Amino acid sequence: MDYVTLNNGVKMPQLGFGVFQIPDLKESEAIVSSALTAGYRLIDTAATYLNEEAVGKAIDKSAIPREEIFVTTKLWLQDAGYEATKKAFQTSLDKLGLDYVDLYLIHVPFNDYYGSWRAMEELYQAGKIRAIGVSNFSEDRLVDLIMNSEIKPAVNQIEIHPLRQQRRALEVMKEYDVQAEAWAPFAEGNGNIFQNDTLIKIAEKYDKSPAQVMLRWQLQRGTVVIPKSANVQRMQQNIDVFDFELSPTDMEAIQLLETGFKIVDHLTADIAKSFNEVRM
Ligand SMILES: NC(=O)c1ccc[n+]([C@@H]2O[C@H](COP(=O)([O-])OP(=O)(O)OC[C@H]3O[C@@H](n4cnc5c(N)ncnc54)[C@H](OP(=O)(O)O)[C@@H]3O)[C@@H](O)[C@H]2O)c1
Repeated sequence: MDYVTLNNGVKMPQLGFGVFQIPDLKESEAIVSSALTAGYRLIDTAATYLNEEAVGKAIDKSAIPREEIFVTTKLWLQDAGYEATKKAFQTSLDKLGLDYVDLYLIHVPFNDYYGSWRAMEELYQAGKIRAIGVSNFSEDRLVDLIMNSEIKPAVNQIEIHPLRQQRRALEVMKEYDVQAEAWAPFAEGNGNIFQNDTLIKIAEKYDKSPAQVMLRWQLQRGTVVIPKSANVQRMQQNIDVFDFELSPTDMEAIQLLETGFKIVDHLTADIAKSFNEVRM
């Protein structure tokens, strides 16, 4: 496993396990246990994924020391604002059954996220969270938050995959020393991505799968990546990406796969409306 060092000195595994959209929520605990057995040491959950309890149970039942597992959870916009955030954080902590989380993220840049950030700064200073960050922040919102806060985000978790490569967003994050983390590294299977000719040809060269090539491409770009799989063989495959290196030519070939496709465009009225309607 490779690690990145966040802007506050905290070390974070560069590859983790995402637990969004597990078809049967009752399976979540067993799936997270399998991921821990497969070697994952970063688990990415969120209040809205409704499986924080299952993640906590799997961690508790594993023989792995707590400090070796990096746990991320996220604040939903329904709980935005100073007071609501403090309460929501405690609820997440209780559901996870933990004394602290490693990374707490503002899930989406809507509602009173400045109030949330003030609460998160205090929770961070009190030692309840090892690093605080954001998710789905466009570069203008990210820089505005940095310019108006005491503590800058350690991480911005955004949609990144070969069809949406986010080059400008990555440049800005690099400039401000904010670690980029990629959600939906396989574009959630959209655009027939696992059947893409370029990815298949590159994969054959290294005796790997298109999925492994997509993950390796992210690692070599310096992003943290959190693939999800409910299938044990695929979760093992997705962590087996540290024994090969894509050549500069292959990295460039993947760069040409950008299409502008977006799973979610947070800059649209429809998304602002529909996300505000999601209640837990
Ligand atoms: N911050 C945010 O707003 C946000 C939004 C979305 C996601 N996320 C996070 O990012 C994580 C990953 O994103 P995601 O789950 O949306 O999508 P993803 O990881 O891009 O894609 C998951 C899909 O790929 C399949 N898959 C996984 N490994 C595969 C392999 N080796 N070969 C072929 N198919 C494979 C999975 O099927 P099987 O399960 O059947 O293997 C599933 O259908 C989430 O779980 C969540 O933690 C965050």
